[in-house]
Amino acid sequence: MLSEKLLRELNEQIKYEFFSANYYLAMAAFCASRDFNGFANFFIVQAEEERFHAMKFFNFINERGERVFISALDEPKNDFQSLEEVFTLALHHEKFVTARIYSLMDLAGEEREHATISFLKWFIDEQVEEEAGMSDILSKIQRIGENGEGIYHLDKELSLRTFTPPAE
Ligand code: FEO
Repeated sequence: MLSEKLLRELNEQIKYEFFSANYYLAMAAFCASRDFNGFANFFIVQAEEERFHAMKFFNFINERGERVFISALDEPKNDFQSLEEVFTLALHHEKFVTARIYSLMDLAGEEREHATISFLKWFIDEQVEEEAGMSDILSKIQRIGENGEGIYHLDKELSLRTFTPPAE
């Protein structure tokens, strides 16, 4: 049985993961509006990953015999000025999510809730990849700029991304 506090925080994480999906869809919409369809594809796939993350929490809470609550989501930011701004914000957001996962892990550790600790380990590793992915693309954009041939090639590269459910 999960403590009331831990259950509340795990449910809260479902909200953050679904919010992340919507935030990335807003970023995809901006990229599409600038005809960067590969960048848009990158964020559409990212949104699918975030929904997958949300469902992992959903399933874990259910498996523990506890009750899932679905909350309302805030409207994400929709106005962006550049690809650099989009990826700066995406990286910042992933760091925020990492901090959330760390605080969930701290709480599970304090409560010696070993099943939750084991479950959260997957997310600790996943966040390393999530931050690295955003950071890598941000660095490339900063290096090549947003107007030359380089950005066209990067857009093409990102158009190839597909969603594969991450390994459990
Ligand atoms: Fe669910 Fe991008 O972290």
